[in-house]
Amino acid sequence: MPFTELKHPLIIDKLTRMRKQDTSSKDFRENLNEIAQLMVYEICRDIPLTKIEIETPIQKTVGYTIEQPIVLVPILRAGIGMLDGIQKLIPTARIAHIGLYRDEETLEIHQYFAKTTTDIENSYTLIVDPMLATGGSAIKAIDIVKQWGAKNIKFVCLVAVPEGLKKLAHRHPEVEVYAACLDEKLNEKGYIVPGLGDAGDRIFGTK
Ligand code: PRP
Ligand code: URA
Repeated sequence: MPFTELKHPLIIDKLTRMRKQDTSSKDFRENLNEIAQLMVYEICRDIPLTKIEIETPIQKTVGYTIEQPIVLVPILRAGIGMLDGIQKLIPTARIAHIGLYRDEETLEIHQYFAKTTTDIENSYTLIVDPMLATGGSAIKAIDIVKQWGAKNIKFVCLVAVPEGLKKLAHRHPEVEVYAACLDEKLNEKGYIVPGLGDAGDRIFGTK
């Protein structure tokens, strides 16, 4: 499975701010959106362009435009925290939603919502979620978007661990995965170490 760690001083600095336990929800959300935006700018380098004829105020010329629909798929709840930043870059992106949560004891994944968009079969599809821990949520979300017919799928997270990447590579070897940082490991409760805690709770101020 292709995996890219998108190292950049701006991303590393913002991620460090997010990791600090005394960072407020507001600052956490702002840095999350900014990192998501920087990552997607880089990831989208391979979007195909279509040549078109245009007229400037001076003369006719050719330009290039993105014709392929772009679909963003946030995994609820925490993936929602990455949307604003990405939508600033790609305001025409369609949004499909997948609601999943991990049972805190068993780490089993439960699905509570799924709604696709039109034309996802022909789209450039980015699934977004800040955390790739056991990999269970990522695998489930990719299962779902494949059932919807999506073919060109990428998974974008902030922090991943080797355990989750290995599981994901086994189930969906062709999906490209991007992270801002590959962390060390999972702890006995299934949390990423050093990680940044429970992303959903920190985004929404729920704990
Ligand atoms: C978090 C996170 C991922 C999942 C990752 O969501 O946002 O979706 O855990 O863990 P995994 O790789 O072991 O599946 P959580 O289930 O806590 O739900 P929330 O976003 O509603 O807080
Ligand atoms: N989900 C989170 O929000 N944080 C982790 O460390 C692991 C899963």
